[in-house]
Amino acid sequence: MVSRLEWGDILRILVIGGGGREHALVWKLAQSPRVTKIYCAPGNPGIGKLAECVPVPVSDLQGLCQLAIDKKIDLTVVGPEGPLTEGIVDLFTANGLKIFGPDKKAAQLEGSKTFAKDLMRKYGIPTAKYAVFTDADKAKAYIEKEGAPIVVKADGLAAGKGVVVAMTTEEATSAVDMIMCDQAFGNAGAQVVVEEFMSGEEASLLAFTDGKTVVPMLAAQDHKRVFDQDRGPNTGGMGAYAPAPIITPTLLTEVVERILQPMADALRQENCLYQGCIYAGLMITENGPKVVEFNARFGDPETQVVLPLLDSDLTYIMEACIDGTLKDSTVTWKNDAAVCVVMASGGYPGDYQKGKVITGVSEAESENAVVFHAGTSARGQDIITSGGRVLGVTGLGASIQEALNKAYSAVKRIHFEEVHYRKDIAYRAVGRPDNN
Ligand code: AMP
Ligand code: GLY
Repeated sequence: MVSRLEWGDILRILVIGGGGREHALVWKLAQSPRVTKIYCAPGNPGIGKLAECVPVPVSDLQGLCQLAIDKKIDLTVVGPEGPLTEGIVDLFTANGLKIFGPDKKAAQLEGSKTFAKDLMRKYGIPTAKYAVFTDADKAKAYIEKEGAPIVVKADGLAAGKGVVVAMTTEEATSAVDMIMCDQAFGNAGAQVVVEEFMSGEEASLLAFTDGKTVVPMLAAQDHKRVFDQDRGPNTGGMGAYAPAPIITPTLLTEVVERILQPMADALRQENCLYQGCIYAGLMITENGPKVVEFNARFGDPETQVVLPLLDSDLTYIMEACIDGTLKDSTVTWKNDAAVCVVMASGGYPGDYQKGKVITGVSEAESENAVVFHAGTSARGQDIITSGGRVLGVTGLGASIQEALNKAYSAVKRIHFEEVHYRKDIAYRAVGRPDNN
């Protein structure tokens, strides 16, 4: 085991990814007095103000490993799921490099819904009843037998789009056709999971783990649908807030004891090495909290509200996760609230145009908000849109209402053509803004 002394008081860090989550990670890590240099691959113009961006794509694992060696990186932090499920942690570890994240086997918790569901069943972790199929006709017969509403999921990674919550059996069987026969998500749809529909309110609970100890972060709530009042198609997330009052202190303890700790123990039992952030997507049903999904990484945009509320130095926590000493760590939180409003390109999550000039970011920052870049690029002196989710504007305050006011005041200062954002982020916590 590596001792704390071997880490040294000076750290050179590499963050992998280039979205809003990675900007929030870089922003928080840059506040540590131990950190002397941060690289980010590939990064974005917002990240570029705090870190040196290097144009290595997240899919180039060998290139990233070489970068960490060349730049004498002490700690690598992985943002997106792709490199984790491809085995970046195994590769870095084999090269003697310290890296925060689950190994390839453990990352199957996100990479394969079948793996996650089977593990939950084996270890008695509460989740929706389910069945797995490699044959479309058998999946359809099961759907007819179970009836609707019912949920159909592609087994593998599908950028958050491989889930159909079907209100009728017809909708569910056409989802099977789309996923298995039309192969809308390629090989990710070779197997489908058909599961029981759960009703309730959703919440995200992220936790640090060294594979043994689990330390929960503050609970957050994401807003997946593109339009106000949770209408329209699912997106990567249109905004988030923390702490989410739905997760009361009692519920938080219950989720740790019945879901997160048993999953950490299960993974260890199965010889998976999980030293990173484990993300439980929860449904708070009338029968208690149940797992909707696990992710093997920080959430996006949950990270943009959770990390600004972390009081402790993130580098020590990550170090403890890698060293296996998390139980001796102190992780403290600010007694504040955070709200993040995602500013997206018009048309997202469908087709949208890129290359729109963004103005007003410094004015927004002068409103005491943090503007995290997600899909932006530089063009000459301008910052332009280059993705569906463009910016995540986080307001902080003593209450959700105060944080929300700050976030929206800042959002109003930012402009780009065809911008779209939700006007009701955090409505479950404070009531709809137009009712206040
Ligand atoms: P996932 O990608 O598994 O997080 O699913 C995307 C979204 O689909 C979730 O955030 C839920 O809103 C919804 N969903 C997934 N599974 C279920 C379920 N069993 N019952 C109800 N809604 C679900
Ligand atoms: N916000 C949802 C996710 O990160 O998967």
